[in-house]
Amino acid sequence: MALDRNPDWWRDAAVYQIYPRSFADANGDGIGDLAGVTDRVPYLAKLGIDAVWLSPFYPSALADGGYDVDDYCDVDPRIGTLADFDRMVAALHQAGIRVIIDIVPNHSGSGHRWFKEALAAGPGSPARARYIFRDGLGPDRSQAPSDWRGMFGGSAWEPVGDGQFYLHLFDPAQPDWNLDNPEVRAEFVRVLRFWSDKGVDGFRVDVAQSLTKDLSGDPLPSAAEVEATPAGPGHPLYDRDEVHDIYKEWRRVFNSYDPPRAGVGEVWVDDPARRAIYAGPEELGQAFNFDLLLAGFGAADFRRVIERDLDLAAATGSSSTWVLSNHDVIRHASRYGLPAATAADQQERTTQGREWLIRRGRSPQEDTALGLARARAATLAIMALPGSVYLYQGEELGLREVTDLPDAARQDPAFFRSEGYEVGRDGARVPLPWAAGGPSLGFGPAAPHLPQPDWYKGYAVAVEDADPDSTLNLYRRALSVRRQLLARADVRESELVWLDAPEGAMQFRRGPWRCLVNFTNREGVALPGERPVLVSAKDLGDNRVLGEAATAWLLD
Ligand code: GLC
Ligand code: CA
Repeated sequence: MALDRNPDWWRDAAVYQIYPRSFADANGDGIGDLAGVTDRVPYLAKLGIDAVWLSPFYPSALADGGYDVDDYCDVDPRIGTLADFDRMVAALHQAGIRVIIDIVPNHSGSGHRWFKEALAAGPGSPARARYIFRDGLGPDRSQAPSDWRGMFGGSAWEPVGDGQFYLHLFDPAQPDWNLDNPEVRAEFVRVLRFWSDKGVDGFRVDVAQSLTKDLSGDPLPSAAEVEATPAGPGHPLYDRDEVHDIYKEWRRVFNSYDPPRAGVGEVWVDDPARRAIYAGPEELGQAFNFDLLLAGFGAADFRRVIERDLDLAAATGSSSTWVLSNHDVIRHASRYGLPAATAADQQERTTQGREWLIRRGRSPQEDTALGLARARAATLAIMALPGSVYLYQGEELGLREVTDLPDAARQDPAFFRSEGYEVGRDGARVPLPWAAGGPSLGFGPAAPHLPQPDWYKGYAVAVEDADPDSTLNLYRRALSVRRQLLARADVRESELVWLDAPEGAMQFRRGPWRCLVNFTNREGVALPGERPVLVSAKDLGDNRVLGEAATAWLLD
């Protein structure tokens, strides 16, 4: 199956996120690589996805899992070469799978040649103007320009020893670019063209809301003042109006290709209506909707998020994006297996569950069976919605978060910068289990860069492949049915219509395709006469009652 030229492929694509270092290790150094992805193209094709999104594979000191990019136009030698990249893209395209890559324009890595130049060139130089350098405060300029904290903890300013500091919203090894600088702006256009010319089909834009900043305040506003300012035009760092000029420029680049390159922004803003601006047709086309990551597992929460997002997509000409897991958040099979948040928890985190316990290393008791049942139900629900779904490697196996990694193995800067208070995101990044045995459960010939827990064996691809009721086979069936249904005009041309559902359940249709989700109805929801085409639960029973935490797809 070769690629078609449909310019709108991204609107309803099933996109599978690959975290390259943890996907498959072809050469046995314990680190996943591009050749490993190429080897697994048959697996991806059988899964039935439309595109992959690769997290960064660029040369990097790995201070933040590769999101500290030292060279935007090359491949980390530990992961492969540009020739490996070309081979991987060719193999994926040959299998009808498109390729989205991650672009990290808010910051580089501190090993980037322009950052090294900036350090060497000294205060006031054009080289420093490409980043965000400020004089320190105090008589000897030894104090940071403001009390801002980085996302991973610690100060957001790093001194360079000559009275100046540079801004890093993330790790000190991730100096923030100055995107007002014309050279930096031109450089990113060059980068987008470099990869587009190589046949890359789209870009995921990291930290998309923060590329333009207002640091004109003198003194700069305090952290408390910044915190109290809603994201938007008045905020110095998040969601400023000028950021859209960048995406309009990039859209012109994307549209100079046939088919136009696609874009999806990682946009963390409070107001979904402002998020939708990034997703407009003049800009990226899509922005991740993370609202389901923050919502509870319940009919009212899901329906509220879905209705709002579909309205926004319709108003902006975008398409919705549905996300339950990624490399930054706790895997949804774990999130849904945790007890509901208490009022006291809400002060720690704003989310509905107690997942913050995991991130604080306190290993809460998970109900693993309930977590998996809910995860499977939620996945079938989002796959039936208009828009595209973004799946994260390993969720098709029903993997949970690994909560007991030894501290010595941890890699996430959040762990180091918070001095262990936050354990970080490594638990969602443990190398995939492909086989039930061997030194890395089939991930590669040698021990993996993060240790796999014993229970991973039971979730290995080889094990699930042989079990018709496995999560892997559920994903395969769901993606295949979804693809068939989306090819039908009576589905494509129908708006989503909400149907009545019993308390604790949710039901909608798109033409003949009906999706019924029983979130919490303990009695179960009786299914109508016709056989469901797909059910997330393993056993429906003879009387065709959809139990709690289960989804059914019906075809009228
Ligand atoms: C995004 C990435 C995350 C990374 C951060 C800084 O949020 O998804 O993994 O740490 O940006 O680049
Ligand atoms: Ca390797």
